[in-house]
Amino acid sequence: MEKHEIQILIEDLHRETLPNTAGHVATYIPELGKANPDNFGICLVTADGRIFEVGNCDTPFTIQSISKPFNFGLAIEHLGHDKVFQHVGVEPSGDTFNSIELQRGSNRPFNPMINTGAITVTALLHAHFGDSTMDTIVDRFSAAAGRTLDIDETVYRSESRTGHRNRAIAHLLLNFGMVHEEVEAALELYFRQCSILVTCRDLAVMAATLSNMGRNPITGQQVYEIRCVKDMLSIMFTCGMYDYSGQWAYQVGVPAKSGVSGGVISVVNRQLGIATYSPRLDSYGNSIRGIEVCRELAARLGLHAFDFTNVGSGYLDVVL
Ligand code: DON
Repeated sequence: MEKHEIQILIEDLHRETLPNTAGHVATYIPELGKANPDNFGICLVTADGRIFEVGNCDTPFTIQSISKPFNFGLAIEHLGHDKVFQHVGVEPSGDTFNSIELQRGSNRPFNPMINTGAITVTALLHAHFGDSTMDTIVDRFSAAAGRTLDIDETVYRSESRTGHRNRAIAHLLLNFGMVHEEVEAALELYFRQCSILVTCRDLAVMAATLSNMGRNPITGQQVYEIRCVKDMLSIMFTCGMYDYSGQWAYQVGVPAKSGVSGGVISVVNRQLGIATYSPRLDSYGNSIRGIEVCRELAARLGLHAFDFTNVGSGYLDVVL
């Protein structure tokens, strides 16, 4: 059988991007420093469940910050907008992912994609679900990935032992009443959620689930309510790549989220989930090869939200 055009494209991109060895593997969580910097995978899963992949798509690594939009969706679904937005905003911070700052006036974290906001969201989930919080999170991520996911206990312990900055953030949040009193327990849950093991293929299926209005296109399971997916994608679009989010929106133009272990997911609404895995990071904490691949994919396939191929609302077409 002839190779699909998309398969040829990602194999070309893999070959073209492989020589780029710029950047460094994250070491501030000591265990992450052991990752093989040469790992490199690209996986695309369509909203109707076809899989295209090349390179290291089966290698497990921890999800890290890519957990943030998926937890945010869970919080919106169970606690509702009003409750969540009393505790966390939706503004890009223009600052690093682990910056220690809150919005002036409200004392809320800027958004749920940076550590202040993500820890707040996890604390909200903990206040709601209690002892079953971690199981709820793992179950939901597993449903999005289409297989049962595990936690890397070694990475979890490594971050828990060294996560002093996140501990400072959590206590600052407690000081302003943004999180409940059991802040240490919530923080451990945050470290655990970041240590959920995924592969590049898992991430692409999770992204495809978001692209398919919350329904996993492989298993057919409705994983997130449709109304929550819009929230998740909006916040990924404006805040998913930290203080690189503006440049990303300009150059790539689709909702995305990165993590310090080297994963990046992108979502092309109603069409495609994209995941890349390459652990060498730039100074923002984003995967260098991941950004290069997504930029190229967007350019060659016309993925940008404001590309001339994007015709806007079909509903408007009907009423006009
Ligand atoms: O909180 C942390 O520092 C990590 N567990 C997650 C950070 C992360 O992935 C930021 N991403 N670029």
